[in-house]
Amino acid sequence: MAKNKKQDTNLIHAGSHPEDQFGAVNPPIYHASTVTQESMAALAKARENRDTSFVYGRLGTPTSRAFEEAVTTLEGGDKCISVGSGLSAICTAMLAFVEHGDHILVCDSAYSPTRNLSEKFLRRFGVETTYYDPLVGAGIKDYFQANTKTVYVESPGSHSFEVQDIPAIAKECRQAGIKVVMDNTWSAGYFFKPFEHGVDVSVQAATKYFVGHSDAMLGSVTTTDENFDAIRNSAHLLGYHASPDDAYLGLRGIRTLATRIKRHEKNALKVADWLRGRPEVEELRHPAFPSCPGHDIWRRDFSGSSGLFSVLLKEAPDEAVANLIDGLDLFALGASWGGYESLVLRTQLIRSATNWNTKTPCVRFHVGLEDPDDLIDDLKAGLDRYMAAI
Ligand SMILES: Cc1ncc(COP(=O)(O)O)c(C=O)c1O
Repeated sequence: MAKNKKQDTNLIHAGSHPEDQFGAVNPPIYHASTVTQESMAALAKARENRDTSFVYGRLGTPTSRAFEEAVTTLEGGDKCISVGSGLSAICTAMLAFVEHGDHILVCDSAYSPTRNLSEKFLRRFGVETTYYDPLVGAGIKDYFQANTKTVYVESPGSHSFEVQDIPAIAKECRQAGIKVVMDNTWSAGYFFKPFEHGVDVSVQAATKYFVGHSDAMLGSVTTTDENFDAIRNSAHLLGYHASPDDAYLGLRGIRTLATRIKRHEKNALKVADWLRGRPEVEELRHPAFPSCPGHDIWRRDFSGSSGLFSVLLKEAPDEAVANLIDGLDLFALGASWGGYESLVLRTQLIRSATNWNTKTPCVRFHVGLEDPDDLIDDLKAGLDRYMAAI
């Protein structure tokens, strides 16, 4: 099995076992709840060898295992567990290390359902959250309490795009015995290698770039041997699992990830570069451009950029933003990203540790695989409509 080759080669072969499936290159989709065993002894053995055996559909199938193998090869770390969505991957990771009376730190730039998990769920069970400035770096240690168990990072933040100094944060956490959990969806694990930078658990909304075609919900949680039991127990206690069809689509998506993500990168760089020259755009928040907070860290730690970024527009009434967005032809209005198609979203940021000027409209783009010149034409007409409404 390819693992020590170059990344693009590994992605083609990881988790592929034609020798076990009559030579077919793709794994069969195992639809299974019941998995029968030959004897009591065989069942006991299967339960003991959870990494290589199957005992019940919710606890994994050969299809989900093949996907997990490919994700581990991509992200690094030692093992992975797949679940039914990116958010369930976040819940799996966040619930793995805390109990009543504990404290966690969450970056102020976190995806809002992650904030909801903290405020509407963990708090009810006696786990307190403090938000911190995503640009805090080694200063994270000033937020540590005796009961802090986890520091949650999302780099870059998927709406405001601050790039975090993960090595500096991880160093402080390691010294204090605190786990670093990262949402690594923006880089798709392709442009950022979390375990080389001190992360303990890397979460992917596989719904995005892994699946890549906007047609499945899937999540992955990858970690080290040291933390895997805690992660797997968390997923299993919660009853989370990945549907076999969606795990299959995630694995199939990974086979073309390298090609797709490089095209997303190229297209997004061209569109972003054009946008930053427009008078309606006050600030470009794309990690590969110097205007993005944490750009130098991105240059140091990432090997590229994906298709998602935001712009802050000149202050304008809501109707101007609607004029821009509603009239777009190629950018559909939608909450997700990572698929082949271009998307746009006006984002409303929630902040508690840092300031955000809510009067400046923040518009997020996911640049798809269309010809970028057509996308620019679409945006040009949109920005003209925006200006006309100011
Ligand atoms: C950064 C980020 N993390 C996690 C998720 C959650 O993924 P899912 O929608 O698969 O639950 C999303 C979804 O938009 C996201 O943008």
